[in-house]
Parts: sequence; C-alpha cells; structure tokens
Amino acid sequence: MLFLLPLLSHFAVVHAAFPAGVIATGTQGVTNPPVPTMPTTINQTSMARLLSVNSIDDFCLFAPPTGPAEIPDTEELEVAWCTKPRNNARVIPDGVITGISFLKTDFYVQIMGTGDFTKLNIAAGGDGGGELDPHGATGAGNPIGGNVTTTVADGLDEPIAEWMLYMANDQFCLRACTNANSTYSAAFMCWHELDVMGCEFVMPGTYHGAGTFETCEAEVAYPPGWYPTVVDGTTSFSTFAQYFTGINTGADGQPTPYTVGDTITPDAPFSTPSSSKCVTQATVSNGIPASLLTAGAIGTAPPPGFSSSGASAASGSQATAGGSSTKGATSGKTTAGSTPTNSGSASPSNSGTTGSSGALRNGPAMSAGDLVGIIIAGIFVIIPSALLFH
Ligand SMILES: *[C@@H]1O[C@H](CO)[C@@H](O)[C@H](O)[C@H]1NC(C)=O
Ligand SMILES: *[C@@H]1O[C@H](CO)[C@@H](O)[C@H](O)[C@H]1NC(C)=O
Ligand SMILES: *[C@@H]1O[C@H](CO)[C@@H](O)[C@H](O)[C@H]1NC(C)=O
Repeated sequence: MLFLLPLLSHFAVVHAAFPAGVIATGTQGVTNPPVPTMPTTINQTSMARLLSVNSIDDFCLFAPPTGPAEIPDTEELEVAWCTKPRNNARVIPDGVITGISFLKTDFYVQIMGTGDFTKLNIAAGGDGGGELDPHGATGAGNPIGGNVTTTVADGLDEPIAEWMLYMANDQFCLRACTNANSTYSAAFMCWHELDVMGCEFVMPGTYHGAGTFETCEAEVAYPPGWYPTVVDGTTSFSTFAQYFTGINTGADGQPTPYTVGDTITPDAPFSTPSSSKCVTQATVSNGIPASLLTAGAIGTAPPPGFSSSGASAASGSQATAGGSSTKGATSGKTTAGSTPTNSGSASPSNSGTTGSSGALRNGPAMSAGDLVGIIIAGIFVIIPSALLFH
C-alpha cells in the first residue's frame, strides 16, 4: 500500500483551497477529452463539449453542431467552439468575435462579447438566444455532458461546477463561478433560472459592444435576482423569481395549471459592478487561415509553431496574419464610478449592445419606485441572509 501514498496525496492537495461546491467532482462528459488540452487537431465536425475560459483570446463557447438553429431548440446538443485549437473542439474563425470584455472577480470569471454567431450555426434574427448551464431538464447539463474549466482561479485547469452561458446570434455572456463563501454559494452566484432576463440583468457589468477588447478586474455583483436591504445593520436579501406558468398532470390524470415567480419583473439588477485595471487590445486572433476552418473541415493540424504556452507570445506573427496586430494598448482604463450604484439610480442601459436579440433582453420596464413598492408589498420573499445557507 505504501506506494499509493504519494499518488493519493498528490490528488488530495489539488483542490484543497476551494470552498465546497466550486470544483466539479464528476468526470468530463463522454464526448470530451479527459482534461483540457492544447493544441489539438482542428475538427470542425467535433462533438466535444469542453469549454475552457482562460483569457480574452483563449476561451470557448457552446453553439449548435449544425445550423441554422436556435439555441433553445438545440440546448442539449450544443458543441464547443474555441478561439484556439484546443479540447478536440471546433475552432472559432478569426473575425467572428467583434468585441470582448473579459472580467476577473473574486467570485467568478465573466466574459461579455459580441460577434456574428450565425457563423457558429445560430439562426440569424429572431430570438436566437438561449441559456445553457450544467443542470438542464435531466440534470445531465445543457448541453448534455457539457463542462467548463478555467485557469483564472489559480493558474491550474480547474473543472468548474457552476457556470452559465447566454448565447445569441449577436451577443453572449458567460460566467464560471470560481469561489464561494457562506453568503454566496457558487450555485447562487451562477443562478441559472432567470433565462428571459438577459445578460445585463443576470451578469451585470460594463457592456461595450463591438470594437472593444479588454481584460479587466471587476467588483463582485450580487447573485442574479438578489436585492439587499439593510435593517439595523443586518443585511437581508429579497430574491426575484422569474414568472412562469405551466400545467401539471396529477396522478389522477387531471391537468392543473400552476404559476410560479413574481408577476412584476424588475428591469435592472440592484447594482452594476465597476470594472477596473482594464487592459485593452486591438482585437483577438488565432491567425489560423479561414480556409482551414470551413464547415466540416476535419483533421487539420494547427499551424506550425502553435503551442499552448506560445499561443499569444508566438502570435505576433499569427495575429498580424489576421490583418490587424494584437497589442496591449491602453491600460488603466476605468469605467465611470468606482462603487456600485444602487437601485435608485441604476438603470444599466450603459451599452451599445441592447436592442436586437429578444431572448437575452430585459423584461418589461419597472422603475426604482416600483421596486421599493414590491419589497414593501412582500411580493419578493424577504429572507434574512443568516437563514439562506445552511
Ligand atoms: C461535467 O459535467 C457533468 C454534467 O453537468 C458534471 O456532472 C460533471 O461533474 C462535470 N465534470 C467536470 C470534470 O467538470
Ligand atoms: C472529429 O469529430 C468527430 C465527431 O466527434 C469524430 O467522429 C472524428 O473522429 C473527429 N476527427 C478527428 C480527426 O479527430
Ligand atoms: C462573501 O463575499 C462577499 C463579496 O465579497 C461579501 O460581501 C460577503 O460579506 C462575504 N460573506 C462572508 C460571510 O464573508
């Protein structure tokens, strides 16, 4: 037995620093490589479903395997598309992504992006947007067996238990929850049941739209749908639950309508966290010629010189091959306001990205005054924070 000890202790220490519920404990989905890997052979018919979310130019998204398709119609089937040839996944061609804000916070890594995701098989126009997460109707995930890793938390490829991706034909937002404490569990910080509320409600931050490529730090948002109230120095949270009606069929075969959630929908999160220490760059590029990434292209090796560590370092040439040089430009760019604004003044219409893709947009408008009324009227369930997590 002695020979096993070094092995066991090696595995035992890896995730010791993470609170419960942050690190995924299962295996990678069956279509995935056992661990994140780069580079891998380019395979534009791949069915792999492993996202890595590591940096502004090394991340992946879920999108349909064939198209044009709507995300809500194909949520169990989506496949991984990565900015680099990794994880046996498909590669996102240069030019598809037109803007990225990559945020690191103490509790999650978050990407807000724009692009032409019709090139990733999402139907043009309409309500092409939908929400993906590791739960789904069967608990096997949407997509089934979909997984997410990140190196942002500690420099190692960590499998993340709780994540959510809102994906539309022209916009996406993705959050992987890398931390937790007794107030915020990873499950609440990546709460995935507000899917009609839109990116700016569920994953608040500074949305710039196309043309901005930035890596920032950011303050931690309240978990999606949480509204804090301080009474006598004690913070409690009310929560917004999405309105939903359906029909249950009982054991007697009789259909019974049911309604859950709040009938009045807030139009803004309690606050929108500021970004700071932003480093901007001109664009992102993998330098892989479009001819190697045509639909269905199979078995193309990554370009010579492509390596996981050298991908950006070696990419002076790769980036310029794409037509525009990638450079760290302005640093220290900070968004207006250094503290989160409260609900009285916050209507985070701070972006050029709103307006077109239905499923990701906010619900009906409601003023801050309405919100206070709701809390007083008790339509929100008000729970002392001390009772929330045990
Ligand atoms: C992969 O995803 C499945 C389904 O959500 C989950 O049960 C499993 O723990 C995940 N494994 C890893 C390593 O992330
Ligand atoms: C590409 O992906 C398909 C679907 O997962 C798989 O059947 C095929 O073997 C892969 N080809 C290569 C060269 O990896
Ligand atoms: C958990 O972290 C949040 C965000 O930093 C903080 O506001 C809260 O006080 C923390 N809770 C505890 C119990 O430390």
